[in-house]
Amino acid sequence: TAEIHIHDVAFGFEGPFGKFDQNQLQRGLQVYTEVCSACHGMKYVPIRSLSEAGGPGLTDQQVRDYAEAFTVLDEASNHQLFDQDKGEYRPLKPSDNFPVNNTIGAPDLSLMAKARAGFHGPYGSGLNQLFKGMGGPEYIAAILNGYTETPACAPADFPNYYNSAFAPGGYPDECKIFEETVTEVTNPDGTVTTRTDKVEVGRMAPGSWIQMPPPLMDDQVTFADGSPATVEAMSHDAAAFLMWAAEPKLMARKQMGFVAVLMLTILSVLLYLTNKQLWSRVK
Ligand code: HEM
Repeated sequence: TAEIHIHDVAFGFEGPFGKFDQNQLQRGLQVYTEVCSACHGMKYVPIRSLSEAGGPGLTDQQVRDYAEAFTVLDEASNHQLFDQDKGEYRPLKPSDNFPVNNTIGAPDLSLMAKARAGFHGPYGSGLNQLFKGMGGPEYIAAILNGYTETPACAPADFPNYYNSAFAPGGYPDECKIFEETVTEVTNPDGTVTTRTDKVEVGRMAPGSWIQMPPPLMDDQVTFADGSPATVEAMSHDAAAFLMWAAEPKLMARKQMGFVAVLMLTILSVLLYLTNKQLWSRVK
């Protein structure tokens, strides 16, 4: 069938007690920096958050070094607004955000893990998200693994790259299944003619054609911790990193929720006992 299937990935940050895996976030940062940032920006994420609790856990010095590797146009020195050639360039500081990247119009990745869902099923009910925690990270991993063989029905010169997990891209008519409906039409002069409509009733392959060239190849990066750098492993690391980027306070929020539920439970017990005590002489 041509329905898109997004597979569940058992990320460590899922579930009520889930935590980001610091090593995985560091590997994801590496994939982002060495691969994704060539085309994508992450303009809402402050670089200093790389050293904050619950994140990739870089040291302050590592964060300074990381920031300084980027150069941006210093807006304070840019008196000619919108003129990219005026003004001075400077290295980034930890207080800056990750750079914008509009070179080829790739979407900003700051909030991508929250903006997309992987919860189509079963039957479009979205229950997989509720019970398996399937969401944006699974979708991102699916896109990065989705460059499967181009369907044979497609013309060789159809633009962009076939991706079996990407829905909104271009799709060649040759791979669509059409049904023809013939309707009788009465013309104003009384004659009757027939009209043939072609309606799309299905598609031969899932997904569509995406503008992003396949970004990952096996062993494209070398991880310091010796982890395997298969496309699948890198896609999970990048997806986990982008989840952290979009939701850096996930762990603190879960902890707070747990404490709140605990306190409410204790309060309920106390209220129950108080109630018993207060009414004990009446009942
Ligand atoms: C789109 C992730 C590397 C160019 C996307 C999307 C994601 C993504 C999640 C959005 C799909 C959607 O809109 O639902 C990543 C990750 C990368 C990476 C995690 C690194 C591992 C790259 C590279 C390039 C690139 C290296 C350029 C050579 C694009 C473009 C789009 C896009 C042009 C827009 C696609 C379209 O709307 O057809 N990327 N990307 N990406 N990416 Fe990447």
